Amino acid sequence: MQSSATATGLRVLISREQIAKRVAELGQQITRDYEGETLLFVGVLKGASFFLSDLARQVSLDVTFDFISVSSYGNSVRSSGEVRLVKDVDNPIEGKNVVIVEDILDTGLTLSFLRKQFLNHKPKSLKIAALLDKVSRRITDVHGNYVGFEIPDEFVVGYGLDYAEHYRNLPDVCVLPPELQ
Ligand code: IMP
Ligand code: MG
Repeated sequence: MQSSATATGLRVLISREQIAKRVAELGQQITRDYEGETLLFVGVLKGASFFLSDLARQVSLDVTFDFISVSSYGNSVRSSGEVRLVKDVDNPIEGKNVVIVEDILDTGLTLSFLRKQFLNHKPKSLKIAALLDKVSRRITDVHGNYVGFEIPDEFVVGYGLDYAEHYRNLPDVCVLPPELQ
């Protein structure tokens, strides 16, 4: 039986079962799209960590990982609009099929910044995988090539997504009501 809320009392927006099913579909799609190629997943810490590890296990190709870290939200739910690369990739991405793996596309500022940076380093190809997409919030023209779910403009936590570093380990994606923000 599927519960409608977690132990925290937060409302579940996307259940762990829905996530697993969709991540498997995305993995199959990536496997088909890159047939005969090798792939580099670049995860955006920390929010994309569960998505990357689950997605990679659904891809039947040779996938290597790297991780970057950017500053965007700090401890608030409002983006500063400023993006800064805090940790770069460990190895060069030149000539590689790169998929940037991110938890959520919101305004798009983070991914449009990363896209530009990455293209400067001449990957063979560059795509974006995002578990969640708040389409209505977009202020840049960036889009995800592999998107798990389009969601409304609500602040969500769980499955890697945080509020002030908390709630990342909730297995479902849940809505954080304004009174808890
Ligand atoms: P963007 O640059 O506005 O697209 O924001 C992307 C980043 O903002 C994501 O990587 C998240 O860290 C954070 N973010 C945006 N919306 C949410 C949310 O609903 N919950 C948690 N983090 C969010
Ligand atoms: Mg993030």
